Amino acid sequence: MANRTFSANTPHIISSFVLFSLIAVASAEVFFEERFHDGWENRWVKSDWKNDENMAGEWNYTSGKWNGDPNDKGIQTSEDYRFYAISAKFPEFSNKDKTLVFQFSVKHEQKLDCGGGYMKLLSGDIDQKKFGGDTPYRFSPVLFICFCCCILIYAIYTDLSISQCSIMFGPDICGYSTKKVHAILNYNKINHLLKEDVPCETDQLSHVYTFVLRPDATYSILIDNVEKKSGSLYSDWDLLPPKTIKDPEAKKPEDWDDKEYIPDPEDKKPEGYDNIPEEITDPDAKKPEDWDDEEDGEWTAPTIPNPEYKGPWKPKKIKNPNYQGKWKAPIIDNPDFKDDPYLYVYPNLKYVGVELWQVKSGTLFDNVLVCDDVEYAKKLAEETWGKNKDAEKAAFEEVENKRIEELAEEDPVDSDAEDGDSDVDDTERPEIKKDDADEIDDEDVKDEL
Ligand SMILES: *[C@@H]1O[C@H](CO)[C@@H](O)[C@H](O)[C@H]1NC(C)=O
Repeated sequence: MANRTFSANTPHIISSFVLFSLIAVASAEVFFEERFHDGWENRWVKSDWKNDENMAGEWNYTSGKWNGDPNDKGIQTSEDYRFYAISAKFPEFSNKDKTLVFQFSVKHEQKLDCGGGYMKLLSGDIDQKKFGGDTPYRFSPVLFICFCCCILIYAIYTDLSISQCSIMFGPDICGYSTKKVHAILNYNKINHLLKEDVPCETDQLSHVYTFVLRPDATYSILIDNVEKKSGSLYSDWDLLPPKTIKDPEAKKPEDWDDKEYIPDPEDKKPEGYDNIPEEITDPDAKKPEDWDDEEDGEWTAPTIPNPEYKGPWKPKKIKNPNYQGKWKAPIIDNPDFKDDPYLYVYPNLKYVGVELWQVKSGTLFDNVLVCDDVEYAKKLAEETWGKNKDAEKAAFEEVENKRIEELAEEDPVDSDAEDGDSDVDDTERPEIKKDDADEIDDEDVKDEL
Protein backbone atom coordinates (compact mmCIF):
# COMPACT_ATOMS: atom_id res chain seq x y z
CA MET A 1 0.00 0.00 0.00
CA ALA A 2 2.67 2.45 0.98
CA ASN A 3 4.41 1.83 -2.32
CA ARG A 4 1.40 3.03 -4.29
CA THR A 5 1.25 6.34 -2.52
CA PHE A 6 4.96 6.84 -2.91
CA SER A 7 4.94 9.68 -5.46
CA ALA A 8 2.29 11.66 -3.66
CA ASN A 9 4.04 11.42 -0.33
CA THR A 10 7.67 11.60 -1.39
CA PRO A 11 8.69 14.52 0.87
CA HIS A 12 7.04 12.84 3.79
CA ILE A 13 8.79 9.58 3.07
CA ILE A 14 12.15 11.28 2.68
CA SER A 15 11.78 13.08 5.96
CA SER A 16 10.78 9.91 7.75
CA PHE A 17 13.71 8.17 6.11
CA VAL A 18 16.06 10.84 7.46
CA LEU A 19 14.46 10.50 10.86
CA PHE A 20 14.77 6.76 10.65
CA SER A 21 18.49 7.00 9.81
CA LEU A 22 19.05 9.30 12.75
CA ILE A 23 17.37 6.84 15.03
CA ALA A 24 19.41 4.06 13.48
CA VAL A 25 22.68 5.87 14.23
CA ALA A 26 21.56 6.84 17.69
CA SER A 27 20.49 3.30 18.47
CA ALA A 28 23.74 1.51 17.78
CA GLU A 29 23.59 -1.77 19.60
CA VAL A 30 26.62 -2.41 21.73
CA PHE A 31 27.00 -6.05 22.66
CA PHE A 32 30.21 -5.60 24.56
CA GLU A 33 32.40 -2.68 25.42
CA GLU A 34 35.39 -2.83 27.71
CA ARG A 35 37.53 0.19 28.39
CA PHE A 36 39.20 -1.45 31.38
CA HIS A 37 37.99 0.97 33.98
CA ASP A 38 37.42 -0.07 37.58
CA GLY A 39 35.61 -3.33 37.94
CA TRP A 40 36.98 -4.90 34.77
CA GLU A 41 38.16 -7.87 36.80
CA ASN A 42 34.57 -8.81 37.50
CA ARG A 43 33.89 -9.08 33.80
CA TRP A 44 36.96 -10.99 32.73
CA VAL A 45 37.83 -14.54 33.69
CA LYS A 46 41.43 -15.62 33.71
CA SER A 47 41.71 -19.15 32.46
CA ASP A 48 43.47 -21.80 34.54
CA TRP A 49 45.05 -22.98 31.34
CA LYS A 50 48.73 -23.86 31.87
CA ASN A 51 48.55 -22.90 35.56
CA ASP A 52 49.60 -26.35 36.74
CA GLU A 53 52.65 -26.23 34.51
CA ASN A 54 53.53 -22.76 35.79
CA MET A 55 53.33 -21.55 32.24
CA ALA A 56 50.40 -19.16 32.66
CA GLY A 57 51.52 -15.55 32.45
CA GLU A 58 50.29 -12.70 34.64
CA TRP A 59 48.33 -9.83 33.18
CA ASN A 60 49.43 -6.39 34.31
CA TYR A 61 46.67 -3.80 34.66
CA THR A 62 48.52 -0.75 33.41
CA SER A 63 48.70 2.07 30.91
CA GLY A 64 52.19 0.88 30.01
CA LYS A 65 55.62 2.46 29.99
CA TRP A 66 54.44 5.18 27.65
CA ASN A 67 50.92 6.41 27.16
CA GLY A 68 48.81 9.43 26.36
CA ASP A 69 46.87 9.18 29.60
CA PRO A 70 48.27 7.33 32.64
CA ASN A 71 44.75 6.74 33.92
CA ASP A 72 43.64 4.97 30.75
CA LYS A 73 44.68 1.43 31.55
CA GLY A 74 44.44 -1.83 29.72
CA ILE A 75 45.75 -5.32 30.27
CA GLN A 76 49.30 -6.19 29.34
CA THR A 77 51.19 -9.45 29.17
CA SER A 78 53.94 -9.18 31.76
CA GLU A 79 56.03 -12.38 31.69
CA ASP A 80 58.12 -13.80 28.89
CA TYR A 81 57.66 -17.35 27.61
CA ARG A 82 54.13 -17.68 28.94
CA PHE A 83 50.62 -18.53 27.85
CA TYR A 84 47.86 -16.00 28.31
CA ALA A 85 44.17 -16.76 28.22
CA ILE A 86 41.43 -14.49 29.43
CA SER A 87 37.86 -14.01 28.32
CA ALA A 88 34.72 -12.02 29.00
CA LYS A 89 31.10 -12.98 28.47
CA PHE A 90 28.32 -10.89 26.96
CA PRO A 91 24.65 -11.64 26.33
CA GLU A 92 24.50 -14.11 23.49
CA PHE A 93 23.50 -12.65 20.14
CA SER A 94 23.37 -13.42 16.45
CA ASN A 95 24.68 -11.06 13.82
CA LYS A 96 21.97 -12.16 11.37
CA ASP A 97 20.77 -9.12 9.40
CA LYS A 98 23.19 -6.95 11.34
CA THR A 99 26.57 -5.46 10.75
CA LEU A 100 29.10 -6.96 13.11
CA VAL A 101 31.91 -4.73 14.30
CA PHE A 102 34.77 -6.18 16.33
CA GLN A 103 37.36 -3.67 17.48
CA PHE A 104 40.15 -3.29 20.00
CA SER A 105 43.40 -1.46 20.46
CA VAL A 106 46.73 -3.17 20.92
CA LYS A 107 50.19 -1.87 21.72
CA HIS A 108 53.32 -3.98 21.55
CA GLU A 109 55.64 -2.22 23.99
CA GLN A 110 58.21 -4.95 23.59
CA LYS A 111 59.96 -5.07 20.27
CA LEU A 112 57.98 -8.00 19.08
CA ASP A 113 60.01 -10.74 17.37
CA CYS A 114 57.29 -13.26 17.17
CA GLY A 115 53.84 -13.00 18.61
CA GLY A 116 50.28 -12.09 18.03
CA GLY A 117 48.07 -9.29 19.17
CA TYR A 118 44.82 -10.86 18.14
CA MET A 119 41.52 -11.33 19.92
CA LYS A 120 38.79 -13.87 19.43
CA LEU A 121 35.05 -13.89 19.30
CA LEU A 122 33.69 -17.16 20.55
CA SER A 123 30.35 -18.87 20.28
CA GLY A 124 28.29 -21.19 22.41
CA ASP A 125 29.10 -22.31 25.88
CA ILE A 126 32.66 -22.28 27.00
CA ASP A 127 34.13 -23.00 30.38
CA GLN A 128 35.98 -19.71 30.77
CA LYS A 129 38.19 -21.22 33.43
CA LYS A 130 39.40 -23.71 30.86
CA PHE A 131 39.50 -21.37 27.89
CA GLY A 132 42.54 -22.25 25.88
CA GLY A 133 42.93 -25.59 27.65
CA ASP A 134 41.32 -27.51 24.84
CA THR A 135 44.23 -26.99 22.54
CA PRO A 136 45.89 -30.38 22.30
CA TYR A 137 49.35 -29.11 22.85
CA ARG A 138 52.11 -29.69 25.39
CA PHE A 139 55.23 -27.69 26.06
CA SER A 140 58.65 -28.48 27.42
CA PRO A 141 60.67 -25.49 28.65
CA VAL A 142 63.79 -26.98 27.07
CA LEU A 143 62.39 -26.18 23.70
CA PHE A 144 62.39 -22.48 24.39
CA ILE A 145 66.16 -22.18 24.27
CA CYS A 146 66.24 -21.84 20.57
CA PHE A 147 64.51 -18.98 18.93
CA CYS A 148 63.87 -21.03 15.83
CA CYS A 149 62.04 -23.57 17.92
CA CYS A 150 59.96 -20.79 19.33
CA ILE A 151 58.93 -19.66 15.90
CA LEU A 152 58.00 -23.18 14.94
CA ILE A 153 56.09 -23.80 18.14
CA TYR A 154 54.38 -20.50 17.75
CA ALA A 155 53.28 -21.37 14.26
CA ILE A 156 51.90 -24.74 15.33
CA TYR A 157 50.30 -23.25 18.39
CA THR A 158 48.60 -20.50 16.43
CA ASP A 159 47.30 -23.09 14.06
CA LEU A 160 45.82 -25.27 16.78
CA SER A 161 44.55 -22.66 19.14
CA ILE A 162 42.12 -21.12 16.72
CA SER A 163 40.13 -24.31 16.49
CA GLN A 164 37.51 -23.28 19.05
CA CYS A 165 36.78 -19.77 17.98
CA SER A 166 34.40 -18.18 15.54
CA ILE A 167 36.44 -15.18 14.53
CA MET A 168 40.06 -14.51 15.27
CA PHE A 169 41.25 -11.09 14.34
CA GLY A 170 44.30 -8.90 14.85
CA PRO A 171 47.94 -8.33 14.06
CA ASP A 172 50.46 -11.13 13.92
CA ILE A 173 54.21 -10.68 13.71
CA CYS A 174 56.79 -13.42 13.38
CA GLY A 175 60.31 -12.87 12.11
CA TYR A 176 60.66 -10.84 8.97
CA SER A 177 58.16 -12.74 6.89
CA THR A 178 54.93 -12.46 8.91
CA LYS A 179 53.66 -8.98 9.56
CA LYS A 180 49.98 -9.16 8.83
CA VAL A 181 46.46 -8.81 10.04
CA HIS A 182 44.86 -12.17 10.65
CA ALA A 183 41.16 -12.58 10.04
CA ILE A 184 40.32 -16.22 10.56
CA LEU A 185 36.71 -17.26 10.18
CA ASN A 186 35.37 -20.54 11.41
CA TYR A 187 32.82 -21.99 9.04
CA ASN A 188 31.39 -25.49 9.43
CA LYS A 189 34.04 -26.23 12.08
CA ILE A 190 36.88 -25.37 9.75
CA ASN A 191 39.10 -22.34 10.17
CA HIS A 192 39.64 -20.31 7.07
CA LEU A 193 42.41 -17.78 6.73
CA LEU A 194 41.97 -14.53 4.92
CA LYS A 195 43.66 -15.04 1.56
CA GLU A 196 44.51 -11.38 1.12
CA ASP A 197 47.64 -9.90 2.62
CA VAL A 198 46.88 -7.01 4.94
CA PRO A 199 50.05 -5.63 6.57
CA CYS A 200 49.81 -4.77 10.27
CA GLU A 201 51.50 -2.02 12.26
CA THR A 202 54.92 -2.98 13.61
CA ASP A 203 55.91 -0.09 15.87
CA GLN A 204 55.64 0.14 19.67
CA LEU A 205 52.57 2.37 19.78
CA SER A 206 48.85 1.75 20.23
CA HIS A 207 46.80 0.92 17.18
CA VAL A 208 43.11 0.23 16.71
CA TYR A 209 42.11 -2.83 14.70
CA THR A 210 38.56 -3.06 13.39
CA PHE A 211 36.84 -5.93 11.64
CA VAL A 212 33.48 -5.25 10.00
CA LEU A 213 31.26 -8.02 8.69
CA ARG A 214 28.08 -7.04 6.84
CA PRO A 215 24.87 -8.91 5.98
CA ASP A 216 25.70 -8.61 2.28
CA ALA A 217 28.70 -10.85 3.01
CA THR A 218 31.21 -8.06 2.58
CA TYR A 219 33.86 -7.15 5.12
CA SER A 220 36.31 -4.38 5.90
CA ILE A 221 39.49 -4.23 7.93
CA LEU A 222 40.46 -0.89 9.41
CA ILE A 223 43.59 0.13 11.25
CA ASP A 224 43.39 3.38 13.20
CA ASN A 225 40.05 4.16 11.54
CA VAL A 226 41.53 3.89 8.04
CA GLU A 227 40.21 1.17 5.78
CA LYS A 228 43.04 -1.15 4.76
CA LYS A 229 41.04 -3.80 2.99
CA SER A 230 37.51 -4.61 2.01
CA GLY A 231 35.94 -7.30 -0.08
CA SER A 232 33.66 -10.27 -0.07
CA LEU A 233 33.49 -13.38 2.08
CA TYR A 234 33.03 -15.32 -1.13
CA SER A 235 36.26 -14.28 -2.74
CA ASP A 236 38.69 -13.51 0.09
CA TRP A 237 38.21 -16.71 2.10
CA ASP A 238 37.64 -20.23 0.84
CA LEU A 239 34.53 -20.71 2.95
CA LEU A 240 32.52 -22.24 0.11
CA PRO A 241 33.69 -24.03 -3.00
CA PRO A 242 34.09 -21.58 -5.89
CA LYS A 243 30.90 -20.57 -7.71
CA THR A 244 32.36 -21.30 -11.12
CA ILE A 245 35.08 -23.62 -12.28
CA LYS A 246 36.90 -24.46 -15.47
CA ASP A 247 34.97 -27.24 -17.17
CA PRO A 248 36.96 -30.36 -16.25
CA GLU A 249 35.42 -32.25 -19.21
CA ALA A 250 36.48 -29.74 -21.80
CA LYS A 251 39.41 -30.64 -24.03
CA LYS A 252 41.43 -28.54 -26.39
CA PRO A 253 40.19 -29.27 -29.93
CA GLU A 254 42.78 -31.08 -32.02
CA ASP A 255 42.74 -28.40 -34.71
CA TRP A 256 43.06 -25.52 -32.25
CA ASP A 257 45.81 -23.25 -33.55
CA ASP A 258 47.59 -21.69 -30.55
CA LYS A 259 50.81 -20.73 -32.34
CA GLU A 260 51.08 -16.97 -32.26
CA TYR A 261 53.99 -16.83 -34.74
CA ILE A 262 54.83 -19.09 -37.68
CA PRO A 263 57.74 -19.22 -40.14
CA ASP A 264 57.04 -16.94 -43.10
CA PRO A 265 56.21 -19.28 -46.03
CA GLU A 266 57.22 -16.49 -48.45
CA ASP A 267 60.70 -16.17 -47.04
CA LYS A 268 63.33 -17.91 -49.19
CA LYS A 269 66.90 -18.85 -48.44
CA PRO A 270 69.19 -16.41 -50.32
CA GLU A 271 71.29 -18.02 -52.98
CA GLY A 272 74.75 -19.10 -51.84
CA TYR A 273 73.78 -18.71 -48.17
CA ASP A 274 75.15 -22.15 -47.28
CA ASN A 275 78.50 -21.37 -48.92
CA ILE A 276 79.40 -18.68 -46.40
CA PRO A 277 82.09 -20.27 -44.20
CA GLU A 278 81.81 -20.10 -40.43
CA GLU A 279 85.43 -19.07 -40.04
CA ILE A 280 87.93 -17.25 -42.22
CA THR A 281 91.69 -16.80 -41.99
CA ASP A 282 92.59 -13.68 -40.10
CA PRO A 283 93.45 -11.10 -42.82
CA ASP A 284 95.51 -9.10 -40.29
CA ALA A 285 97.69 -12.00 -39.16
CA LYS A 286 101.31 -11.88 -40.28
CA LYS A 287 103.93 -14.56 -40.20
CA PRO A 288 106.27 -13.71 -37.30
CA GLU A 289 109.71 -12.46 -38.38
CA ASP A 290 111.52 -15.17 -36.44
CA TRP A 291 109.39 -17.99 -37.80
CA ASP A 292 111.61 -20.81 -39.00
CA ASP A 293 109.80 -22.98 -41.53
CA GLU A 294 112.21 -25.80 -40.95
CA GLU A 295 111.96 -25.90 -37.21
CA ASP A 296 108.46 -24.59 -36.66
CA GLY A 297 106.77 -26.17 -39.65
CA GLU A 298 104.85 -24.36 -42.33
CA TRP A 299 103.19 -21.20 -41.01
CA THR A 300 99.42 -20.97 -41.36
CA ALA A 301 97.46 -17.88 -40.47
CA PRO A 302 95.03 -18.31 -37.55
CA THR A 303 91.30 -18.33 -38.30
CA ILE A 304 88.69 -15.97 -36.86
CA PRO A 305 84.85 -16.10 -36.88
CA ASN A 306 83.48 -14.90 -40.19
CA PRO A 307 81.46 -11.71 -39.66
CA GLU A 308 79.39 -12.60 -42.73
CA TYR A 309 78.30 -15.91 -41.24
CA LYS A 310 74.83 -15.72 -39.67
CA GLY A 311 74.26 -19.35 -38.64
CA PRO A 312 71.99 -21.87 -40.30
CA TRP A 313 69.27 -20.25 -42.35
CA LYS A 314 65.85 -19.84 -40.77
CA PRO A 315 62.85 -18.22 -42.39
CA LYS A 316 61.72 -15.11 -40.54
CA LYS A 317 58.69 -15.36 -38.28
CA ILE A 318 55.39 -13.70 -38.94
CA LYS A 319 52.15 -13.42 -36.99
CA ASN A 320 50.02 -16.48 -37.57
CA PRO A 321 46.86 -15.27 -39.39
CA ASN A 322 44.98 -18.32 -38.06
CA TYR A 323 46.02 -17.80 -34.45
CA GLN A 324 43.07 -18.56 -32.14
CA GLY A 325 44.65 -17.47 -28.89
CA LYS A 326 45.64 -19.68 -25.97
CA TRP A 327 43.04 -22.32 -25.41
CA LYS A 328 41.10 -21.97 -22.18
CA ALA A 329 38.59 -24.40 -20.77
CA PRO A 330 35.15 -22.82 -20.66
CA ILE A 331 33.99 -21.61 -17.26
CA ILE A 332 30.93 -23.44 -15.95
CA ASP A 333 28.85 -23.31 -12.78
CA ASN A 334 30.47 -25.45 -10.13
CA PRO A 335 28.14 -28.38 -9.40
CA ASP A 336 29.61 -28.53 -5.85
CA PHE A 337 28.75 -24.94 -5.08
CA LYS A 338 25.76 -24.45 -2.85
CA ASP A 339 25.21 -20.90 -1.81
CA ASP A 340 24.72 -20.12 1.85
CA PRO A 341 22.81 -16.88 2.29
CA TYR A 342 23.83 -16.95 5.95
CA LEU A 343 27.52 -17.29 5.26
CA TYR A 344 28.23 -14.25 7.43
CA VAL A 345 26.05 -15.35 10.36
CA TYR A 346 27.43 -16.40 13.72
CA PRO A 347 24.22 -17.37 15.50
CA ASN A 348 25.42 -17.49 19.10
CA LEU A 349 28.30 -15.17 19.76
CA LYS A 350 28.89 -14.98 23.47
CA TYR A 351 32.51 -14.37 24.46
CA VAL A 352 35.46 -12.26 23.59
CA GLY A 353 38.85 -13.56 24.54
CA VAL A 354 42.58 -13.37 24.23
CA GLU A 355 44.55 -16.54 23.95
CA LEU A 356 48.22 -16.04 23.28
CA TRP A 357 51.61 -17.56 23.61
CA GLN A 358 54.28 -14.92 24.08
CA VAL A 359 58.03 -15.25 23.82
CA LYS A 360 58.49 -11.62 24.76
CA SER A 361 55.77 -9.99 26.83
CA GLY A 362 54.52 -6.43 26.69
CA THR A 363 51.40 -6.58 24.53
CA LEU A 364 48.70 -4.31 25.90
CA PHE A 365 45.02 -4.65 24.96
CA ASP A 366 42.42 -1.98 25.51
CA ASN A 367 39.05 -0.64 24.35
CA VAL A 368 37.44 -3.87 23.23
CA LEU A 369 34.20 -3.37 21.37
CA VAL A 370 31.60 -5.64 19.80
CA CYS A 371 28.71 -3.71 18.25
CA ASP A 372 26.58 -3.36 15.14
CA ASP A 373 27.54 0.14 14.09
CA VAL A 374 30.70 1.21 12.28
CA GLU A 375 30.16 4.88 13.13
CA TYR A 376 29.91 4.11 16.82
CA ALA A 377 33.15 2.14 16.65
CA LYS A 378 34.88 4.97 14.80
CA LYS A 379 33.76 7.42 17.42
CA LEU A 380 35.01 5.21 20.24
CA ALA A 381 38.39 4.84 18.53
CA GLU A 382 38.64 8.61 18.14
CA GLU A 383 37.71 9.24 21.77
CA THR A 384 40.30 6.77 23.07
CA TRP A 385 43.20 6.06 20.75
CA GLY A 386 42.67 9.21 18.68
CA LYS A 387 42.64 11.51 21.69
CA ASN A 388 45.80 10.02 23.20
CA LYS A 389 47.93 9.08 20.23
CA ASP A 390 50.03 12.24 19.95
CA ALA A 391 50.79 12.35 23.65
CA GLU A 392 51.59 8.64 23.58
CA LYS A 393 54.01 9.13 20.71
CA ALA A 394 55.71 12.00 22.53
CA ALA A 395 55.96 9.89 25.70
CA PHE A 396 57.43 7.01 23.73
CA GLU A 397 60.03 9.26 22.13
CA GLU A 398 60.97 10.63 25.51
CA VAL A 399 61.49 7.12 26.91
CA GLU A 400 63.49 6.12 23.85
CA ASN A 401 65.73 9.18 23.98
CA LYS A 402 66.37 8.68 27.66
CA ARG A 403 67.26 5.06 27.10
CA ILE A 404 69.67 6.02 24.33
CA GLU A 405 71.28 8.73 26.48
CA GLU A 406 71.77 6.34 29.37
CA LEU A 407 73.41 3.86 27.09
CA ALA A 408 75.76 6.54 25.78
CA GLU A 409 76.81 7.33 29.36
CA GLU A 410 77.39 3.68 30.16
CA ASP A 411 79.50 3.12 27.10
CA PRO A 412 82.86 4.98 27.38
CA VAL A 413 83.86 4.27 23.78
CA ASP A 414 80.94 6.20 22.43
CA SER A 415 81.09 9.05 24.92
CA ASP A 416 84.72 9.59 23.84
CA ALA A 417 83.51 10.30 20.35
CA GLU A 418 85.13 13.23 18.60
CA ASP A 419 84.13 16.76 19.39
CA GLY A 420 82.64 18.86 16.63
CA ASP A 421 80.76 17.27 13.78
CA SER A 422 77.93 16.96 16.24
CA ASP A 423 75.36 16.80 13.45
CA VAL A 424 76.79 13.56 12.19
CA ASP A 425 76.96 12.14 15.71
CA ASP A 426 73.37 12.97 16.41
CA THR A 427 72.08 11.29 13.33
CA GLU A 428 74.27 8.23 13.49
CA ARG A 429 74.25 7.46 17.16
CA PRO A 430 70.68 6.45 17.72
CA GLU A 431 70.95 3.74 15.07
CA ILE A 432 74.01 2.23 16.69
CA LYS A 433 72.63 2.75 20.14
CA LYS A 434 69.37 1.10 19.36
CA ASP A 435 71.14 -2.10 18.41
CA ASP A 436 73.26 -1.98 21.56
CA ALA A 437 70.14 -1.42 23.58
CA ASP A 438 68.51 -4.45 22.09
CA GLU A 439 71.41 -6.66 23.06
CA ILE A 440 71.26 -5.41 26.59
CA ASP A 441 67.54 -6.01 26.71
CA ASP A 442 68.05 -9.55 25.61
CA GLU A 443 70.68 -10.17 28.25
CA ASP A 444 68.38 -8.80 30.90
CA VAL A 445 65.76 -11.23 29.78
CA LYS A 446 68.16 -14.14 30.06
CA ASP A 447 69.26 -13.05 33.52
CA GLU A 448 65.70 -12.95 34.68
CA LEU A 449 65.20 -16.48 33.47
C1 LIG B 1 53.16 -3.25 35.16
O1 LIG B 1 53.44 -2.20 34.23
C2 LIG B 1 54.05 -1.06 34.81
C3 LIG B 1 54.17 -0.01 33.73
O2 LIG B 1 54.91 -0.48 32.64
C4 LIG B 1 55.40 -1.43 35.40
O3 LIG B 1 55.98 -0.33 36.00
C5 LIG B 1 55.22 -2.56 36.39
O4 LIG B 1 56.47 -3.00 36.85
C6 LIG B 1 54.46 -3.72 35.77
N1 LIG B 1 54.18 -4.71 36.78
C7 LIG B 1 54.44 -6.01 36.61
C8 LIG B 1 54.02 -6.89 37.71
O5 LIG B 1 54.95 -6.42 35.59
